[in-house]
Amino acid sequence: MIYGFEMKALVISVLLAGGLSAASDSGEAVYGQRCARCHELHDPRIPTRATLKTMPATRILRALNYGAMISIAYTMTISQREAVATWLGTAGGDSPPPPSAFCADRSVRIPDGSATQWNGWSPSASNTRFQPGGAAGLTLDAVHNLKLKWAFAFDGDLTAFSQPTILGNNLFVGSAGGAIHNLDPQTGCIRWVWQGSGPVRSSLLVADNLLLFGDQSGWFYALDAVRGQLIWKKKMDPHDATRITGSAVAYQGIVFVPVSSWEENRASDPEYACCTMRGSVVALRIRDGSQVWKSYMVDPPKQIGKNKFGPSGAAIWSAPTIDAKRGLLYVTTGDNYSEPDTKLSDALVAVDLKSGKIAWSRQFTAKDIFTGGCQAAGYCGPDYDFGSSAMLVDSGGRNLLVAGQKSGIVYALDPDRKGQIVWQLRVGEGGNNGGVLWGMAADDRYAYAAVSDIERRRNASGDPTDLRTFVPDPDKGGGLTAIRLADGSSAWHVPGHPCDPPKAGCSPAQPAAVTGIPGVVFSGSVDGHMRAFGAEDGRVLWDFDTVRSYDAVNGIKGQGGSIDGPGAVVVNGMVYVNSGYARQGGMPGNVLLAFQSQ
Ligand code: HEC
Repeated sequence: MIYGFEMKALVISVLLAGGLSAASDSGEAVYGQRCARCHELHDPRIPTRATLKTMPATRILRALNYGAMISIAYTMTISQREAVATWLGTAGGDSPPPPSAFCADRSVRIPDGSATQWNGWSPSASNTRFQPGGAAGLTLDAVHNLKLKWAFAFDGDLTAFSQPTILGNNLFVGSAGGAIHNLDPQTGCIRWVWQGSGPVRSSLLVADNLLLFGDQSGWFYALDAVRGQLIWKKKMDPHDATRITGSAVAYQGIVFVPVSSWEENRASDPEYACCTMRGSVVALRIRDGSQVWKSYMVDPPKQIGKNKFGPSGAAIWSAPTIDAKRGLLYVTTGDNYSEPDTKLSDALVAVDLKSGKIAWSRQFTAKDIFTGGCQAAGYCGPDYDFGSSAMLVDSGGRNLLVAGQKSGIVYALDPDRKGQIVWQLRVGEGGNNGGVLWGMAADDRYAYAAVSDIERRRNASGDPTDLRTFVPDPDKGGGLTAIRLADGSSAWHVPGHPCDPPKAGCSPAQPAAVTGIPGVVFSGSVDGHMRAFGAEDGRVLWDFDTVRSYDAVNGIKGQGGSIDGPGAVVVNGMVYVNSGYARQGGMPGNVLLAFQSQ
């Protein structure tokens, strides 16, 4: 297997590192040899050199040693890593939070299950991202008066993509820099911080007094939620491109972890032996991290040609959905990375909660083989992954599974008929990063589907430091549709709001997950706006432009940017919003914002 070879190479390079002289490594030369071929590509998924130059050197080193670049850096000596990080990055590094950022009272109490909460990706296991009125503590009339109460900034980060979890008087949030925080939900002061080794973009889940989450280097952790100390950690797959993007869910002492990878991006390197990563879902005992089962979405890869391996892919990068009544766990999958195409890619797969055996599956797009290098390889599928969870909803006395795809189509399936399609509705054009991306919401009448449908065009800014070849189109993309659960017809549709003014990196695309409370739907956009829409007719009730600087409560300057990835979290009269997303041509930013109606 290819990664077996890479592990050997890692050991050899570590052995060599001790004997090499640091003086021989010029950061600029290392950049030219090791980094430029991707970071000068202007692939919208890869931060440009201009973006890297704004990051602290310690942060770049962390990306190479432990973070998103670990697979790139495995053949590099320590001194090469330090040289390139120093040449690229800004001096100073990350400093610990100032004493004033900590709460006066740092004691932590984890309440029992009856407390008002938003624990994990969705307040309920059905993944509808709907917060009932009592727990929301926010009415339709009060939404107009939402005002910023506090901003918390993630030091040195360019992206804020870990959705907060609120449980009683605790707010748990991760960060792109790998720091996990327990904050006071009312004021944003810090109770504890734990520094992990990889970017955390999934939501954190509290179960049995443990804080459970995965990171972008493929590790899954359990921290003591009271003290902020590591209890156990497990690598979710031996493949070095493993990453955990979707949030985990828990049921009866077991945590279910969706396993994804960044091999799709890695394969943009023409030398890369594509592809060997297998999407999976893993069930672990919460108490000690021991594995109950692991269910793969593709068979083991074989060598199928010179430098070619398959099958691969069908990664799971959304939160699984628990159906206790039927004893099933539903996962949605991504595309295949290489030939041959397989049956569980771009699919909704029902897995037995106890055994991990696949009960049934429904594929929506066949033969979707896609990577960053597919054009060079001669064939590209449409890239119609599922990035959002299936929602288990009630409609007219029966259950439906509602799932939205990057194709721009929302499907309702019958869970009692092996996922037979009940209705389907096109809500967007769909595409590479289009369609329904990170998540929908549903109440008892409607499903609410926002679409990305981001469009890119040639960068005409004339700014020599802005190295992007393509920037998002400020006029195209976005849109929110309310779909009647009863029959799949559209109850209302609001198109995206064109950027005004059309600033750099701006796009009306609405890839971020949607959130519902009684009478109100929250949807953020790449232009940095978070809006509240009336659930009855889609009228805009509240609109906040997050793109500005903030004097954050932890004593540093914060910056708002694009809203992408997670969605708003509403608990106890407060609305929490992540802002900043330096990917997909979006605007960088590093803040968690808290709003309250005044
Ligand atoms: C084969 C392509 C490739 C090469 C070579 C490469 N990168 Fe990257 N880099 C990427 C991609 C893709 C991402 C975005 C990763 C993701 O999606 O999380 C990235 C992201 C990063 C980030 C941001 C990580 C974060 O946590 O936000 C840093 C820093 C970085 N690269 C530094 C480097 C340096 C330094 C080098 C050279 C030593 C390098 N990269 C070489 C593809 C590459």
